[in-house]
Amino acid sequence: MKPKSLHAVRGEIVHFLADPAHDARALEHFADGLLILREGRVAECGPAVALLSRLPEDATVDDYRGKLILPGFIDTHVHYPQTDIIASHGEQLLEWLEKYTFPAERRFADPEHAAEVAGFFCDELLKNGTTTAAAFATVHAAAVDALFAAALARRMRLITGKVLMDRNCPDFLRDSAESGYAASKALIERWHGRDRLLYAVTPRFAPTSTPAQMTLAGRLFAEHPGVFLQSHVAENRGEVAWAAQLHPEARSYLDVYDRHRQLGPRAVYAHCIWLDDTDRRRMADTGSAISFCPTSNLFLGSGLFDLQRARALGVRVGLGTDVGAGTSFSMLQTLNEAYKVLQLGGQSLSAASAFHLATLGGAHSLYLDDRLGNFVPGKEADFVVLDPQATPLLARRSAACTNLEERLFALMTLGDDRAVAATHVLGSVAWQRKAPAWN
Ligand code: GUN
Ligand code: ZN
Repeated sequence: MKPKSLHAVRGEIVHFLADPAHDARALEHFADGLLILREGRVAECGPAVALLSRLPEDATVDDYRGKLILPGFIDTHVHYPQTDIIASHGEQLLEWLEKYTFPAERRFADPEHAAEVAGFFCDELLKNGTTTAAAFATVHAAAVDALFAAALARRMRLITGKVLMDRNCPDFLRDSAESGYAASKALIERWHGRDRLLYAVTPRFAPTSTPAQMTLAGRLFAEHPGVFLQSHVAENRGEVAWAAQLHPEARSYLDVYDRHRQLGPRAVYAHCIWLDDTDRRRMADTGSAISFCPTSNLFLGSGLFDLQRARALGVRVGLGTDVGAGTSFSMLQTLNEAYKVLQLGGQSLSAASAFHLATLGGAHSLYLDDRLGNFVPGKEADFVVLDPQATPLLARRSAACTNLEERLFALMTLGDDRAVAATHVLGSVAWQRKAPAWN
């Protein structure tokens, strides 16, 4: 049988071989680069001039010269059922959940609604260059089916799970410890490991699960090696006080999860603003990850995440949009706000660290860096093509930049979905922007 012909993309390639915070040579840059793909994976990545001469004659090359090619973005925390309540005015976390979130999630009892939103959500991720996401669904098993089906149709890497919630919530969203366990188990059997899909046990947060449900969530996580667990912790001061009131036996809010065997590799906790160093050490020691969600933390007035401290204590950190408390699907805009949150905390985020966080850092936080996050041969060929000329302002600012770091910083500060020229999933085009109107 004739081997399949090779496909390649040519452009300015930027990716990371390690964390630039620890290794000055972590960023690899080919000003005129070639990424060679074979059956959806990276075959080779390097300077175009050297690699083109070795490419077979029948190989096809997409020409993205003038644009940047980076690994697909990894959104480590987002809620698909909150797509329609993004930008809802006026409340902080607990009131926002009651007023906007729970009514919106109620509508996912209808599988048709779930399917329609799931399709829009996946397309919106791709339009923003996001090829992997860890997403919350709702308590409804059919809403999980809908998102997995939408991601499968697009061949995206997607982690999701049924929300577990058996107290302190409206009746219309309440499951029980036993029904939540059984439904999650059935979903794991149906979806986990199918194509690129992965399951996450999803207790919403400790205040909305009874100790019985928390125990069963921990059991599900332990019983299914390779499955994820996602939740929220220490986001808002009122929430932290409530968790302490509900769990006087626990040393801290994080300790509630720890006591229920919910820490460990592939456990991902959104926010982690109001942690102390004992908590951070426990996260590092157990291999648990933080999802830093800056647009959400600013929008809900939750607080300022301390990235420096999390890093110093060796905690894995990824970046999350947290839509609908987060205000953008764009990981570029999320990096823009991350920079500002850290500025307010007297910390600085370099453009290299920022793009690492959105790519290889996210993959590392999810224990997926063996297959995602950069262009090392063998990795899954998910990538985003960014256009520094996407808007007149970005074009002007980019023209005034004198080095790569400045150009990347302009892209993350001024860029959004308009800067995403194309998104490829497993090598194939999953999204392509039409020429900008102003051209
Ligand atoms: N804590 C519990 N549920 C949620 C949610 O849906 N969004 C955010 N931002 N925090 C939460
Ligand atoms: Zn969230």
